[in-house]
Amino acid sequence: MQTLVLPVNPAAPQAEAIAQAADILKRGGLVAFPTETVYGLGADALDAPAVERVFAAKGRPAQNPLIVHVAAAPAARDLVTQWPENADRLAGRFWPGALTLVLPKAPRIPDIVTGGGDTVAVRVPAHAVALALLRAARLALAAPSANRSTRLSPTRAEHVLADLDGRIDLVLDAGATPGGLESTVLDLTTSPPRILRPGLLSPAQIEAVIGPILRPKVKTEDLATEHRSPGLLGRHYAPRTPMELVADHGLKRVQDLLRQGLRVGWLTWKVEEETGPVFRMVLPNEPRGYAAQLYAALHSLDAAGLDRIVVALPPDTEDWLAIRDRLQRAARE
Ligand code: TXA
Ligand code: MG
Repeated sequence: MQTLVLPVNPAAPQAEAIAQAADILKRGGLVAFPTETVYGLGADALDAPAVERVFAAKGRPAQNPLIVHVAAAPAARDLVTQWPENADRLAGRFWPGALTLVLPKAPRIPDIVTGGGDTVAVRVPAHAVALALLRAARLALAAPSANRSTRLSPTRAEHVLADLDGRIDLVLDAGATPGGLESTVLDLTTSPPRILRPGLLSPAQIEAVIGPILRPKVKTEDLATEHRSPGLLGRHYAPRTPMELVADHGLKRVQDLLRQGLRVGWLTWKVEEETGPVFRMVLPNEPRGYAAQLYAALHSLDAAGLDRIVVALPPDTEDWLAIRDRLQRAARE
């Protein structure tokens, strides 16, 4: 299969490109498109064979469910059997945006979308290209991140192509996605609601609207023990190059590895003294800026032919929660 790439203006997408993409989706094809978080790989959510192609293109395990993207809240309501007060409040406050809500699924959603489960994850993305596509196609789009399963998520069209060229029909290339990290997944079928995956929207922002929720842990001790249980949840969001996390800025560890003759990449969040021949990338030391650049930095480090990537772990405060979550999963063996 030849993968077509169509450039689109991120703020005012060209109608022709959007129409072509919508056409492919209506015929059961696969289109990668930008959202405000990362690029998604979309297929008609109500077309089971099309959704099967998404799983095949990604090499994704069948039990891992997909997020269904819609243009507005009423369309999400049509995909679920319950729309609680909390859903209304959260959708009203945060959609379009980086919040995914898990609710009881309507029967017409194919089982393959939900991994056989009885809930469905829905969200309205806040990106002009994604919204234009959803409106033009008049479809709900099942769209996981547009990467091969367990790999780094794509924040640029080039990242999508590196993983999926020849496996999908089209990429809408609108440049870098602004958020850089995935949406927050919130389960509204439990009481209190529970965060299943931390993301761009913080627990505090959610609690300000609906009151207390179950939050993921952020402390280093929890993470350290989790680390020693390989396979608990498995490696995910990961570069191919072995990656390790260090609690300090990482200088000592980097020098150690250099002495062993390894080619070392170093991802850190504040500038430190010079170290010698190391591929160093410095990210902003505040969470929004860091999140926006994290995957792109890891993609660059991964492409540099290194033996090891050393990552300085950001502080264990809640504003760094989603970033630390991704780094820990990426560093798992
Ligand atoms: O920002 C995002 O959420 C991006 C963009 C493209 O929207 N999408 C994304 O999709 O990250 P994906 O498939 O890479 O991750 C979806 C996450 C997975 O952890 C999946 O297990 C969870 O959402 N999920 C999906 N449906 C679920 C459900 N019914 N119940 C619980 N978790 C669900
Ligand atoms: Mg993903």
